[in-house]
Amino acid sequence: MISEAAKMRFATEVAKYPADQKKSAVVACLAIVQQELGHISIDTEKMVAEYLDMPFIAVREVTTFYNMFNQRPGGKYKLNVCTNLPCQLRDGVKALKHLEETLGITMGETTADGMFTLQQSECLGACADSPVMLVNDRTMCSFMSTERLDQMIAGLPVSMAAISSRRSMTGSMARTGIWPITRHGAVTRRCARFSVRTVVRV
Ligand code: FES
Repeated sequence: MISEAAKMRFATEVAKYPADQKKSAVVACLAIVQQELGHISIDTEKMVAEYLDMPFIAVREVTTFYNMFNQRPGGKYKLNVCTNLPCQLRDGVKALKHLEETLGITMGETTADGMFTLQQSECLGACADSPVMLVNDRTMCSFMSTERLDQMIAGLPVSMAAISSRRSMTGSMARTGIWPITRHGAVTRRCARFSVRTVVRV
């Protein structure tokens, strides 16, 4: 189950709403669970439902509606490739197929080494930048040609390690185009050279 620190974060989120509206914190609480455990199990959904005094099915509806919530354990890097119509018209499916061939998995699967999970995504709101993809629900990558995809796959472990440690970001990220997630969430910074940007933090 979740840690005491996570429960304290639950309380902080719940405190943002009127006492009779605890359920308004459901998305935030599920995000906290996922940050701590990597995915949201049925048991944790029940725990959140109990904590927020809401029906289990209402929590389940939220978990299954948003594809940013992982319903089972996945790889270290979750790659969501947009294949909605505008992206399909500009090589979105080609990008997904290329990743399937490169990683040796099909959509929805995780590589045997546990590094990458590949998923199809609905519109990410950046149609003009297609093909686009989202890495670990937070870092959006635009204009992902096969060359950029290969570059990203090769550089992701280095760049994400840099994000975690918050050290020496500029060098490794400049090479792969992954920019840091700021402490305060939404990021406006954008790299013209690699067309990669970070997006909303949960
Ligand atoms: S259709 Fe892919 S970002 Fe909108």
